[in-house]
Amino acid sequence: DGDQNPLLVAEGLSKQFAPQGFAWGVGRGKPRFGLRDVGIRLARGSITGIVGESGSGKTTFGRILAGLDTAPTGRITIGEHAFDVSRSGRRSGLLGRVQMIFQDPSVSLNPRMTIGETLDESIRFGARIRSSKEPADLAAMMDRLGLPRSLLGRHPHQLSGGQKQRVCIARALLARPEIIVADEPTSALDVSVQAEIVGLLKDTIAERAMTMVFISHDLAIVQAMCSSVYIFKDGRIEDFGPTEFIFSRSDNPYTRALINARPQRFTC
Ligand SMILES: Nc1ncnc2c1ncn2[C@@H]1O[C@H](COP(=O)(O)OP(=O)(O)OP(=O)(O)O)[C@@H](O)[C@H]1O
Ligand SMILES: [Mg+2]
Repeated sequence: DGDQNPLLVAEGLSKQFAPQGFAWGVGRGKPRFGLRDVGIRLARGSITGIVGESGSGKTTFGRILAGLDTAPTGRITIGEHAFDVSRSGRRSGLLGRVQMIFQDPSVSLNPRMTIGETLDESIRFGARIRSSKEPADLAAMMDRLGLPRSLLGRHPHQLSGGQKQRVCIARALLARPEIIVADEPTSALDVSVQAEIVGLLKDTIAERAMTMVFISHDLAIVQAMCSSVYIFKDGRIEDFGPTEFIFSRSDNPYTRALINARPQRFTC
C-alpha cells in the first residue's frame, strides 16, 4: 500500500508572506499565510490532486516541493533522503527530483531559446542530477507527445498554446524526475485542447511509472484523474483522503460546499 510506503512525505511546511501594503500601513498586523503546517504523502506511481480556492497556497506548496522556493520550517523526504527546505533547491538537492509544469506555457518557456535548446538543456540537467550515462531519447519523446520534429528549430512564439504546453511536458519528463507537479496545466489553454493535454500528461506519467501532483480548480478532472485529494484552505489542509471518500463521503462542510458548487462538467 502506497500510504504505508510513500514515495514522498512533506511535513510541517509553513511559509509566511509580508502583509500586503505593509509599507503604507495598510493591513499591518495581518501577516498573510502562504502555508501553515502543511503535510502530504504521495503514494508511488499515484496522481494526487490538490484543490482549493484562489490564494489557498497551492502554488506556494508546489513550488516548495519542486525546490523552486524555500520554506523556513518543514521537511520533505523522498524515499530515504531528507531535504532541507530552508535551503535553495539547488543546495538541498531537491531541484530536479521534482519537476513542475506551470499554468501558462507562454511565460514558462525561455523566448530566446529554440525548442531544441530548451529540451537539450533539460536532458543535460537531468543527466547531471542522476549522473546517468544513458541519454534521454528526445526524438521518441517528441513523437510520444505529438510534437513534429520540425519544431526543434523554432522559438516558443511560433508555436500554438497546446504545442507549447506539450513542450513543457516534454521538458519536465526529459529531466527524468521522480515526481511531476502540474499546476493548473490547462487553465491557460483553449478548451478544445484541454482534455487532450490532460490525457497525455496522465498517460505519459503512468508509462514512466512517475508520481504526479495535480493542482486544479476543476473538480471533475480531479475526480477522474486522482486517487487521492487534498483540499487547501487559507494555507492549511482542510480535508484529505481517497478521491472516492472526498467526493462522496467526507462530512467536512467546506468540502461538501466545494463539491456541491462545482459545475456539472465531465471533461475526461
Ligand atoms: N511571492 C509572494 N509574495 C507575497 N505573497 C505571496 C507570494 N506568493 C504567494 N503569496 C500569497 O500567498 C497566498 C497563497 O498564494 P498561492 O499563489 O500559493 O495560491 P493558489 O492557491 O495557488 O491560488 P490560485 O488558485 O489563484 O493559483 C496568497 O495570499 C498570495 O497572495
Ligand atoms: Mg496557483
